[in-house]
Amino acid sequence: MIEKLEQQFQAKIDAEVKIEPKDWMPEKYRKTLIRQISQHAHSEVVGMLPEGNWITRAPSLRRKIALVAKVQDEAGHGLYLYSAAETLGAERDDLLDQLHTGKAKYSSIFNYPATTWADMGAIGWLVDGAAIMNQVMLTRASYGPYARAMVRICKEESFHQRQGYEILLTLCRGTEIQKQMAQDSLNRWWWPSLMMFGPNDAESTHSAQSMAWKIKRKSNDELRQAFVDATVPQAKILGITIPDPDLKWNEERGHYDFGEIDWAEFWNVVKGNGPCNRQRIEDRKKAYEKGAWVRDAAVAYAEKREQRKAASKAKVA
Ligand SMILES: [Fe+2]
Ligand SMILES: [Fe+2]
Repeated sequence: MIEKLEQQFQAKIDAEVKIEPKDWMPEKYRKTLIRQISQHAHSEVVGMLPEGNWITRAPSLRRKIALVAKVQDEAGHGLYLYSAAETLGAERDDLLDQLHTGKAKYSSIFNYPATTWADMGAIGWLVDGAAIMNQVMLTRASYGPYARAMVRICKEESFHQRQGYEILLTLCRGTEIQKQMAQDSLNRWWWPSLMMFGPNDAESTHSAQSMAWKIKRKSNDELRQAFVDATVPQAKILGITIPDPDLKWNEERGHYDFGEIDWAEFWNVVKGNGPCNRQRIEDRKKAYEKGAWVRDAAVAYAEKREQRKAASKAKVA
């Protein structure tokens, strides 16, 4: 019986029919999606922290407006994604609890500090740029609510990428010191951005099944290569140098070759020992506690509405 259901399920996916919340799905598909979508949601909200720090220090009103809008967009991305995870039966409080207790992962890139204004440029250009690579493929993910959330998210991410690039372009056309700031920022963010695509394909534990289920459509290495190929020409326009002596165009492959990632650093940050892991979780917990009154008020309001509805129904009857 279950085998037949599984066959029908896979046939649907093969035929590019979306899976919807009330459809039958294998438990492992549901669990994999809850894990992936919630990790993604956590990344969006933790991702607000390094940039949120710079809102008060933005160098002009125009920059401040753009940065506020970007950080708010990330909060919205978190909301869409937590909602998508809830359609699979997950409870938002449980998901947040997993984040706060360190059980759930989020993108390690946000465990690096944003130390200069140029980092607002580099994060938009590289971090949002890498996120787009990953997320464009997710707009075609087999699970309907996830795919639809990603369509909207991708539109906003491309604004983020452009506003970041424009910050760097302005710095690179400015004084020598400003250009150095941009270079320093690229030096610090380049390798962590490449790490965002995850371990090499040979080391990646979840990939094969996720590809068959069309939760993922391109491998980590494919996406990383596409990111490098797209980003190198952009660095050339900026006139700053990517910090990789092994980076060069490979005529035969039609792609850029690049150096080996420091995987020891990658795993160290994943395991919680990056420069800002503890601070990020502390800040998230504090924000959650400070927001308790908003959640309580929303619940009280919903209850009041229910009571009013019930009372007016009773009157009609
Ligand atoms: Fe986002
Ligand atoms: Fe973004």
